[in-house]
Amino acid sequence: MSSVLVVDDDATTRLLVGRRLEAAGFEVALASTGAQALEVVREGFNGVIVLDLMLPDRDGRQLLPILRERCPDNPVIILTGHGTADAALDSLREGAFDFLDKATLAERLLPTVKRASETTSGAQGSGEAGPDLILEGIVARSPEMRAVSRSLQNALNSRVPVMIRGESGTGKELIAKAIHDHGPRRDGPFVAINCAAIPESLLEAELFGHERGAFTGAVGRKRGRFELARGGTLMLDEIGEMEPRIQAKLLRVLQNGEFQRLGGTETLIADVRIISATHRDLEAEVEAGRFREDLYYRMAVFSIHLPALRERTGDIALLVDHFLQDSARREGRVIEGIDPLARELLESYSFPGNVRELQNVLAYAVVSARGPTVSVSDLPVAFLRAVTMERHRAVRVDQPPVELGTGMAPGAALAPLVEAALEVATEVGGADEVFPTLAEVEGRHIAQALERAEGNKARAARMLGISRATLYRKLAGDA
Ligand SMILES: Nc1ncnc2c1ncn2[C@@H]1O[C@H](COP(=O)(O)OP(=O)(O)OP(=O)(O)O)[C@@H](O)[C@H]1O
Ligand SMILES: [Mg+2]
Repeated sequence: MSSVLVVDDDATTRLLVGRRLEAAGFEVALASTGAQALEVVREGFNGVIVLDLMLPDRDGRQLLPILRERCPDNPVIILTGHGTADAALDSLREGAFDFLDKATLAERLLPTVKRASETTSGAQGSGEAGPDLILEGIVARSPEMRAVSRSLQNALNSRVPVMIRGESGTGKELIAKAIHDHGPRRDGPFVAINCAAIPESLLEAELFGHERGAFTGAVGRKRGRFELARGGTLMLDEIGEMEPRIQAKLLRVLQNGEFQRLGGTETLIADVRIISATHRDLEAEVEAGRFREDLYYRMAVFSIHLPALRERTGDIALLVDHFLQDSARREGRVIEGIDPLARELLESYSFPGNVRELQNVLAYAVVSARGPTVSVSDLPVAFLRAVTMERHRAVRVDQPPVELGTGMAPGAALAPLVEAALEVATEVGGADEVFPTLAEVEGRHIAQALERAEGNKARAARMLGISRATLYRKLAGDA
């Protein structure tokens, strides 16, 4: 049987809440002060805690962090009265499961407590999914991603809005889906909408739906994403691209918890958990007046920042193995591994397209591999070129030769490796698709000269038989 501890100094609330929960089959413990609540917890209470924010001895707000620390597995639901909305939002940031307004207690108490108690029993296993997985399907072991994992766990057990930040391809949608799949709304729908992909004139109708004849072209009634996601999760992707007018409307809906279809009069409940995502620096957008500050605060109660892949290079090796096996399974192939040179190239590249780019490179490699081992010649030529260009740029930075290849960004020291790789690729790949262009050959030749000249441009220019000015021009890419 599930237990609930009700902490409230008001005897009437204690009684009403307690009775209602008992009638629904919960085992109920009562406490009228913070001290009593802590006593019950010390005795090993295991279940849901319903906590009034205003307690006589220890304010509920002070008690919450103590409870979260002493018994992090017991979800805490905050009871709020009139005018404590800000405090309620704060408490969510501090790890409360949810909050209940005393005014709507009658309808919301049971569903909320039930959801919370589910997270203590059945969903226990959804914590760590293995040493190299944050959750099923999310591969990571770097300390940067461990930090992400911790915020993710907090977000999972609550229903408050989450904002996921990160460059393109860092896994924002994957994380959003995981929050849905492992959270209390997993049985509801997951609906995503990309705010950047839909013109402003249509976005409002897409979000909230419309009635027949609401505008020219509205031939029938259409349900919006808010309606389709009812009881589940609504992902607002690329939220930074939303126009101010829609931002204002969205804010109103989030504040009131209800909306109407365009051209309609029926009031619908906005029963969705919002997850938003953006690659933009939203604080800067707020600063510049392009994104509403009030909306930002409402949506970013929890914020999860996904680091770029180059900031968590510790994950690359793991992701390489994961995607190799994943693609092999998809293609019905057996791939046993990847040769060390190819792996080294992958681990030293900056991946501006992040995890998605790595995934695509490996999907290609698996398809083109002839045997069970992926080698350099199986990597896409575009990738090898990008690696080469990155190395050239590193050479151009004009670091003193001693430091080359010893720091994080491998400089000229690795260049021969890439040259070899590109050569292998050009030889094995056959003449048609991979025949290098004149510019590529030239670029490679220049890089080799620079390398032999240990980065000394005057010497490299002499070796190449061109003037220093010409070399500079070519390096700048406008030759
Ligand atoms: N940690 C990870 N483990 C396994 N797969 C991952 C991981 N991160 C990302 N991926 C995969 O990389 C691809 C890109 O991820 P996703 O679409 O979630 O990125 P995104 O941040 O939403 O990108 P965009 O900003 O371009 O929409 C997906 O196929 C996803 O499954
Ligand atoms: Mg995405």
